[in-house]
Amino acid sequence: MQYDKPLRGALDPIETASIDELRDLQLNRMQWSVAHAYNNIPAYRNLCKEKGVHPFDLKTLDDLKLFPFTTKAYLRDNYPFNTFAVPMNEVVRVHASSGTTGKPTVVGYTQNDINTWADVVARSIRAAGGHYGDKVHISYGYGLFTGGLGAHYGAERLGCTVIPMSGGQTEKQVQLMRDFDPDIIMVTPSYMLNLIDEMERQGLDPRDTALRLGIFGAEPWTDEMRKNIETRLGIDAVDIYGLSEVMGPGVAQECIETKDGPTIWEDHFYPEIIDPNTGEVLPDGEYGELVFTSLTKEALPIIRYRTRDLTRLLPGTARPMRRIDKITGRSDDMLIIRGVNVFPTQIEEQILKIPALAPHYEIVVTRDGNLDNVEVKVELAPEARDADKQLVAKELQHHVKSLIGISTRVNVVDTGSIPRSEGKAKRVFDKRSFS
Ligand code: DLL
Repeated sequence: MQYDKPLRGALDPIETASIDELRDLQLNRMQWSVAHAYNNIPAYRNLCKEKGVHPFDLKTLDDLKLFPFTTKAYLRDNYPFNTFAVPMNEVVRVHASSGTTGKPTVVGYTQNDINTWADVVARSIRAAGGHYGDKVHISYGYGLFTGGLGAHYGAERLGCTVIPMSGGQTEKQVQLMRDFDPDIIMVTPSYMLNLIDEMERQGLDPRDTALRLGIFGAEPWTDEMRKNIETRLGIDAVDIYGLSEVMGPGVAQECIETKDGPTIWEDHFYPEIIDPNTGEVLPDGEYGELVFTSLTKEALPIIRYRTRDLTRLLPGTARPMRRIDKITGRSDDMLIIRGVNVFPTQIEEQILKIPALAPHYEIVVTRDGNLDNVEVKVELAPEARDADKQLVAKELQHHVKSLIGISTRVNVVDTGSIPRSEGKAKRVFDKRSFS
């Protein structure tokens, strides 16, 4: 790759541009992106025709609401490559979601897309507090998942030394962290917990590593989890957000100086929040489903993609661009327990408030006749090995009941008995049948 502008600390000019300048750029780019999708993807053109809209109708940013949504089903129905807007010989890379059931969703990138992606990830690492010369240990999985390679190209682009560890081999990860002295780690928060446990198992003090910064994402995590990781590792922990359909990691990044939710790189990704039931666009500040329109992607322009992530848009702080509030969860992960909507993150928040508990947990939902039963399995913290499990369970049960409003059976289990994550943690086991 040829770049004439090594990023050595200065912000990209657009990161400090005025809102007017940004909106002008967005409109220009959006008009290009919608027309590019319409002209080159028959499946997208059909969606527009069904809705009776044409790219000419996009005269203001507000007009975007006239256009149809795209969903995971749009990608699946056009599996594998029929959502691509360029000939296959211009596609230099594909990635795919794991797709627990059915076909995975496939995404593609031109060389320009890969460069843009590296740029936004480099920008993200810098906003997170990283810089040229830092050593970056990457434990996001490499492969079809966008985490590893996405982080990798961005870190290189910023001028960092990359340690491309990928996920797994937990013991080795810790050894290399000790030997290579990385300044930054990029990993899912749940795998970070696993790595911390491994350090302790090896008799190391996690605060003794050279690490200064953790850039955590790919799954929901709470501010309580941030505090837990920051304290145990003695680092700053910031949130990186992204999804493969829109690019990969680096769609939005939390800035270290504010730690108040990821700033969306709005010059490339245009956000909306909609009411998930009606599809109506909601004003900034209101909670709903996050929807993204890519503004510059060539291989896979995606217009009004419904992420299923629930959050709200907040005004810019460290940058003029808008932020997202920490993702509460995905609409797919929302449990409806006897009529109450519950997210695993809400339970995580309560667990982390009790010092005798470790942040390793599972939520198992079963149905008994017409009644939903929730069991929270959670580990005792190693330092609370001798605590009375029943007493601790009662305390959590009480907090969950009074603050979230659901009755649960809490099962406090021994340290180390809940399976550890090496990537995205699976925390909910919904065993109800909805037939
Ligand atoms: O998880 C991309 C990524 C890799 C982001 C590494 C950050 C770091 P997917 O596998 O397509 O892509 O999954 C995307 O993961 O829609 C969210 O539900 C969730 N997610 C990603 N980042 C966050 C985050 C990558 N910071 C899906 N907080 C998204 C909460 C997140 N959820």
